[in-house]
Amino acid sequence: MPYIDTLLKLDEIAVGESRCVKLGDAQVGLFHREEGLFAIDNLCPHRGAPLHDGFVSDGQVTCPWHQWQFQLDDGICRNIPKVRVATYAVEVRDGSIWIDLEQEGAKQS
Ligand code: FES
Repeated sequence: MPYIDTLLKLDEIAVGESRCVKLGDAQVGLFHREEGLFAIDNLCPHRGAPLHDGFVSDGQVTCPWHQWQFQLDDGICRNIPKVRVATYAVEVRDGSIWIDLEQEGAKQS
């Protein structure tokens, strides 16, 4: 599947901020960190909390409901390593953020 334009500009999401981006039926958590952009499945696999609302530190997001922690780069749950959320490839094209839902890889510098 080709990259999809999120209709979000890079300068609309400051470093340290996150967004929920809806692409078709998918909800993607988009995180802008010093290390780059990370895109993951936004729904926590435990009970479906919106991960983009979680606290981010040390490359991981903490679920706002029950505090499971997910690594932004590979989606692995720090609490239960066999659990993970999908990660997606991100590109910035002419200042706009594009995401490929079929390609793994959460970060774009
Ligand atoms: S909904 Fe995320 S840890 Fe429970």
